[in-house]
Amino acid sequence: MNEQQRKEMSQIRQGNPADVKSDQDNLERLKKKNSDDFVKYFQTTYETPNLNKARKRGKQDVKYHEDFTIPEELQNIGKGKKYLIRTYGCQMNEHDTEVMAGILTDLGFESTSDANDADIILLNTCAIRENAENKVFGELGHLKPLKQNRPDLILGVCGCMSQEESVVNKILEKHQHVDLIFGTHNIHRLPQLIQEAIFGKEMVVEVWSKEGDVIENLPKARNGKTKAWVNIMYGCDKFCTYCIVPMTRGKERSRRPEDIIQEIRHLAAQGYKEVTLLGQNVNAYGKDLQDLEYGLGDLMDEIRKIDIPRVRFTTSHPRDFDDRLIEVLAKGGNLMPYIHLPVQSGSSEVLKRMNRKYTRESYLELVRKIKEAIPHAALTTDIIVGFPNETEEQFEETMTLYEEVGFEGAYTFIYSPREGTPAAKKEDNVPMDVKKKRLYRLNERVNKYSREALKKYQDKIVDVLVEGESKNNPDVLAGYTPESKLVNFEGPKSAIGQIVKVKITNTKSWTLDGEMIEEAVEVK
Ligand code: 5AD
Ligand code: SF4
Repeated sequence: MNEQQRKEMSQIRQGNPADVKSDQDNLERLKKKNSDDFVKYFQTTYETPNLNKARKRGKQDVKYHEDFTIPEELQNIGKGKKYLIRTYGCQMNEHDTEVMAGILTDLGFESTSDANDADIILLNTCAIRENAENKVFGELGHLKPLKQNRPDLILGVCGCMSQEESVVNKILEKHQHVDLIFGTHNIHRLPQLIQEAIFGKEMVVEVWSKEGDVIENLPKARNGKTKAWVNIMYGCDKFCTYCIVPMTRGKERSRRPEDIIQEIRHLAAQGYKEVTLLGQNVNAYGKDLQDLEYGLGDLMDEIRKIDIPRVRFTTSHPRDFDDRLIEVLAKGGNLMPYIHLPVQSGSSEVLKRMNRKYTRESYLELVRKIKEAIPHAALTTDIIVGFPNETEEQFEETMTLYEEVGFEGAYTFIYSPREGTPAAKKEDNVPMDVKKKRLYRLNERVNKYSREALKKYQDKIVDVLVEGESKNNPDVLAGYTPESKLVNFEGPKSAIGQIVKVKITNTKSWTLDGEMIEEAVEVK
């Protein structure tokens, strides 16, 4: 590959939606010329996630695009064809899947849950821990015979893993049955990418390392009619030393409040009963909106007035959780008394090495303020055990913090080194069996506290937003209380999608059993 070609490819990698057309032409030309060079290019010059570079990105301007449309010539490209999207990882990915499903629907595709029946299969991947990545590579292996039997099947990999150099290289080398790789900043380009994958002969790779824009008006095929995800911001600038997200999702950028409010009003008008505001670090909402002095508290204060019964938000970062937000949440109403507040560790020393920017003491002070203002709020958290060189004493501090806060639930993880993150470069003197034992001990505590928190509900009457039949028993309905406790109860199918009153008859470790006492007529 000569210098000129390299330069052109570099433009493609760093692409900008405005330059898409010329990038496409370049890509076509280069691929036709020499596909080996194309593959080699990614192997030699694709940049690894680079923390120092990423940290300097704050100054770049975010571009807002309100003009997403599907070109007329592509509008029937999926007619008579079916798609399947497998989603791994967080709510952000689940919502991205809804957007991709929306785009595919607009292209004429229909959905299927049967891989044998699908003309296009997309794996929307997660990079947060190694086991999430291993699952995807396993799935690519399983899908190989299907692709060999049906060469016209389009197999695509998207989501966070596609943003990693090592993953793209591995797919280029070992999984050449993949037709399409695209990144988290390229979702709106799906129509053109699919067109290329269908009509081209080479693997289509489009991953922009740029920090991402905000694209409005993307179609969404939402999963269900009761609860909806609403993105309020994208990306993360916190740079916790263990975390790959700031590299895979780009810099923090907020949607405009008026766009968010309009989307929620629209969902309310369609009959949705609950929205969850989404972002990797929702408490940083608004910081990048230079023309506005506006934060998550202000946004929630407006959303509170919308006629939708339940509003939630995730995920919070303790550092940015401010008094204004606490004050607004305390107003209650449709703002649900449930706060997921990842602490990660109870040791100030470990928190420092994680670059979390708060201490055990300041976290406890925040919890005190929240409990004072919203005494009935349920608090849950995320915890990483076995961070490099975590001592027994430091782990004990996590155990005691858990008790002090009295969390009602937690997602617990063994630290997983992610290539390109600062923590992954550290030597680690904690053996895996020690980490596993710590996780086990922590989980015992998590279970105990969950069980105790649920006991408080015995014989109480709670409001349950009914989501559908229970996973294990179609005769039983399942839904959530305002504090996000799962309730199973017998009731008529007509209750699905409604908020109903349920009396709790039995409490377990993770769920509640109850009986419906009254079907809600009015849900607000
Ligand atoms: N190893 C283990 N857990 C991690 N998390 C994020 N990165 C890692 C990692 N490298 C956990 C954090 C975060 C949750 C979504 O995943 O607890 O809050
Ligand atoms: Fe990752 Fe969350 Fe830290 Fe951002 S705030 S770097 S998403 S753990």
